[in-house]
Amino acid sequence: MIMTVDLGNRSYDIITERGSLHHAAEYLDLDRKVMVVTDDGVPEEYAEAVRAAAKDGHTVTVAQGEASKCFEQYQRILSEMLSLGFGRGDCVVAVGGGVCGDLAGFAAATYMRGVDFYNVPTTVLSMVDSSVGGKTAIDFRGVKNVIGAFKQPERVLIDADVLKTLPKRQISNGFAEAVKMALTFDEELFSVFETEDPMSYVDKIITRSLLIKKAVVEADETEKGLRRVLNFGHTIGHGIEAAVSPELYHGECVALGMLPMCSDKVRARLLPVLSKLKLPTRYDFDREKAFEAITHDKKGGGGFVKAIVVNEVGSFEEIKMTLDGLYGKMISYYGENK
Ligand SMILES: NC(=O)c1ccc[n+]([C@@H]2O[C@H](COP(=O)([O-])OP(=O)(O)OC[C@H]3O[C@@H](n4cnc5c(N)ncnc54)[C@H](O)[C@@H]3O)[C@@H](O)[C@H]2O)c1
Repeated sequence: MIMTVDLGNRSYDIITERGSLHHAAEYLDLDRKVMVVTDDGVPEEYAEAVRAAAKDGHTVTVAQGEASKCFEQYQRILSEMLSLGFGRGDCVVAVGGGVCGDLAGFAAATYMRGVDFYNVPTTVLSMVDSSVGGKTAIDFRGVKNVIGAFKQPERVLIDADVLKTLPKRQISNGFAEAVKMALTFDEELFSVFETEDPMSYVDKIITRSLLIKKAVVEADETEKGLRRVLNFGHTIGHGIEAAVSPELYHGECVALGMLPMCSDKVRARLLPVLSKLKLPTRYDFDREKAFEAITHDKKGGGGFVKAIVVNEVGSFEEIKMTLDGLYGKMISYYGENK
């Protein structure tokens, strides 16, 4: 299936096709120097399939995990490209999850003021969310994604067969972002999570989530308005992530962050879905530390935040609330520190 993200001269196709990784050259222009960026947790054969299909392919493998979204690894990719004589007509391909995509995308955005970038996501999270939309970044001085660029890929190639090797907890982690999209835009997709085994419907979940992400990105490429809806669950979620990191994955924190931001009736439907996906619904985190991280994130807002709430499944509202009001929402669901 081909879906086009319509962004004028930055438009690109997302191809979702099982088995496509092994025919990468049919979908991506690899007839040039190609720098494949992967990590050591991604089975080697995936990156190798792309490298071997390239006319002049090379690979940089970083250590798995968020810590690789750093200057050192960014520089390492650029150094390799420079010493191998990469020019403006060459390209970078990420083969991995969101860590590889964000790091490789940022290298592609900046090498010689920008070279072509392809994303081949291999986690559920990167298939449903991070591979589309053009946000690329590295972390700096403990602040996530603080240095980056908007760099739309030339193409995204999704082969769901690679999920056969992804650990179950990582699969659920990615489903949390798809549940977020369903809650805010697509009641029918939400009911798939309620009534079906999500893994048997993973192709449909990927496609429906991408349709939502595509529509949001088309309407608001650089997050000036609508795109903020994708932050549903992320404000409190980021606070929790900062308080417990690295115990919980990002999607698990988003799951915890969505619960206080729903109406009672939506929460009554969300709780069983999260439990079915083995995502957390309660967690013992330091409320003060989480709130400190939230206020740090939101400073500059004059004591107010724009928060997304869901009162009906499949829709959302953006409301302006005080930071105290947000703290109150978190505490009303999780209670005060014990
Ligand atoms: N750019 C965006 O719009 C955007 C959106 C959301 C998240 N992100 C970023 O994405 C990152 C998280 O991405 P993620 O959840 O994909 O994590 P990740 O990239 O760290 O991948 C998770 C783990 O799975 C392993 N892995 C990947 N594919 C595999 C496969 N097919 N089989 C077996 N193991 C595999 C990796 O080695 C890693 O250990 C964060 O850095 C976050 O900031 C970016």
